[in-house]
Amino acid sequence: MKKIKEINTRKTIEKPGITIKDLGGFHPNPDEAKWPIGSIFENEGKRLYDLVRKEKPLLIVEIGGYVGCSTSWMAKAIRDNKKGKIISIDNQAHGGKWSLIPKELKQFVTYVSEDCFTCKVPENIDMLFEDGMHTYGFTQKVIERFPAKIVVCHDYMHWDCQNTVAHDFDKVLGKPNEIFFEKPSDCGLAIKYVR
Ligand SMILES: C[S@@+](CC[C@H](N)C(=O)[O-])C[C@H]1O[C@@H](n2cnc3c(N)ncnc32)[C@H](O)[C@@H]1O
Repeated sequence: MKKIKEINTRKTIEKPGITIKDLGGFHPNPDEAKWPIGSIFENEGKRLYDLVRKEKPLLIVEIGGYVGCSTSWMAKAIRDNKKGKIISIDNQAHGGKWSLIPKELKQFVTYVSEDCFTCKVPENIDMLFEDGMHTYGFTQKVIERFPAKIVVCHDYMHWDCQNTVAHDFDKVLGKPNEIFFEKPSDCGLAIKYVR
């Protein structure tokens, strides 16, 4: 009887966790969308995942956690890196609350339900992911308020964000080192290695 119990325990420990194939993203075709509109696309999530796996940031600050799509991709990378954490800030202007993050990834995230312009600014930010309110000056204020070694902004290529996200990004940081912009996304990620 004792032997059977031990075998069962071992099986539980070896059960694989969530894989990157499970995570998904927003998709204009509702049949392919795993996350609601406002979330990043799956291919953008994969690019974020690869970036975090490569750069191994110890502290990521995210502005705009929403229901948790981008948070989940970065949390998955943090878990696979076996080090690091995310501070995700969202004032829930759009009812965010990180509600759809897979249970096993929640532990890698500290949730701050505050306005990003009045909350405490964490020290030693390795990576900033900005995906908040895409209004004029918002991205500039965020980049200046949360100094980071790597800055990633969503919607840099969106047609409606050329005078806001893209304008602010270029103004503060200069042109991105990389622009990730692949269909079906119409948003794009801008990546800058600041130092
Ligand atoms: C486009 S959604 C973020 C999507 C998310 N990155 C994802 O992929 O799932 C923008 C989020 O920014 C948040 N937001 C807007 N203004 C903010 C502010 N001043 N401080 C903190 N969060 C803010 C909104 O509540 C919203 O949840």
